[in-house]
Amino acid sequence: MFDPIQWARPNIRTLVPYSSARDEFHGEAKIYIDANENSLGSPMVKWYNRYPDPHQLKLKEKISAIKGIAPEHVFLGNGSDEAIDILFRAFCEPGQDEVIICPPTYGMYEVSANINNVNILRVPLTTGYQLNIPALEETVTARTKIIWLCSPNNPTGNSLDRADVEILLNNFPGLVVIDEAYINFSRQKSFIQELPDYPNLVVMQTLSKAWGLAALRIGMAFASQAIIQIMDKVKPPYNINEPAQELALKALEEVGQVNDMIRIIVHERDRLAEALPQIPMVEQVYPSDANFLLVKVKHARQVYEYLLDCGIVVRDRSKTAGCESCLRITIGTPAENNLLWQALCDFAETPEAEKA
Ligand SMILES: Cc1ncc(COP(=O)(O)O)c(C=O)c1O
Repeated sequence: MFDPIQWARPNIRTLVPYSSARDEFHGEAKIYIDANENSLGSPMVKWYNRYPDPHQLKLKEKISAIKGIAPEHVFLGNGSDEAIDILFRAFCEPGQDEVIICPPTYGMYEVSANINNVNILRVPLTTGYQLNIPALEETVTARTKIIWLCSPNNPTGNSLDRADVEILLNNFPGLVVIDEAYINFSRQKSFIQELPDYPNLVVMQTLSKAWGLAALRIGMAFASQAIIQIMDKVKPPYNINEPAQELALKALEEVGQVNDMIRIIVHERDRLAEALPQIPMVEQVYPSDANFLLVKVKHARQVYEYLLDCGIVVRDRSKTAGCESCLRITIGTPAENNLLWQALCDFAETPEAEKA
């Protein structure tokens, strides 16, 4: 049975977490003079003189109700990027432990590993952008603490085969993290409902994508209570600021509006995916379960620069191994997508494109 306490770094196992004023006093009081705040208020809005709830209880309760999982299984980070960093800091001994990533994938797993001086083992995705299970099995060592998976994957856009993920969950003795930042745009269902079956599973999601709240910096991790307790021990006490908690709570009331946006984005994604291959320099549009398309084009760099001249910024992924000649295009508003389409058609008419 996977025991996250044994899996954590020895110093984290015995770490006494920071105890904030709000940890030491719960409930309502008349006078708060326990946290060295400014009791007179602030030049802005009076109520920002108080520290935010370090446990984000109201927000977690709301997220729990939406996701169908108890608040004790929810961790909130200052973006998923903080959750990624905290998993490294809690579970990987710098200079000794290692993790596996499956490129091409989201860059922060590697950056965070490097910041934390944790060795990275790379097991590239197959040509169809799926997990290479035999290679993963061969690569795992006694020091492999975490396998990082991203599904739907950034920048390829596809979901990983569920059966492959289950093989890892059933056989790898360490943590399997599935980053589901783009799950709301996917045909696949989340792994959140599988958490009771897998004590070594961490599912990450974010309010930055479908919820449209990237500026608030709220990332979510769902896992066993034991894993969440370890992550909570390591996080800075007030990692989600008060305006972010308040605004997120308000936004989370609007599930219907978010579902409408998701429907529009998915419709636009499928419309673009169907239309783009009509442009001669477009060689391939990869199947996407996300809010972006990976598109293989002739002269990727020139296309990228041409679009920039038109005021359209896409992501040039043409130098990324496994994504050669590819641009990653986020689905915009219907009007923006039409402008992109027009600009690509215009480029196809230029002498540069014709030389191809
Ligand atoms: C796969 C993936 N995970 C996480 C993130 C970052 O999420 P957050 O804004 O919550 O830090 C991104 C952002 O692009 C992403 O592509």
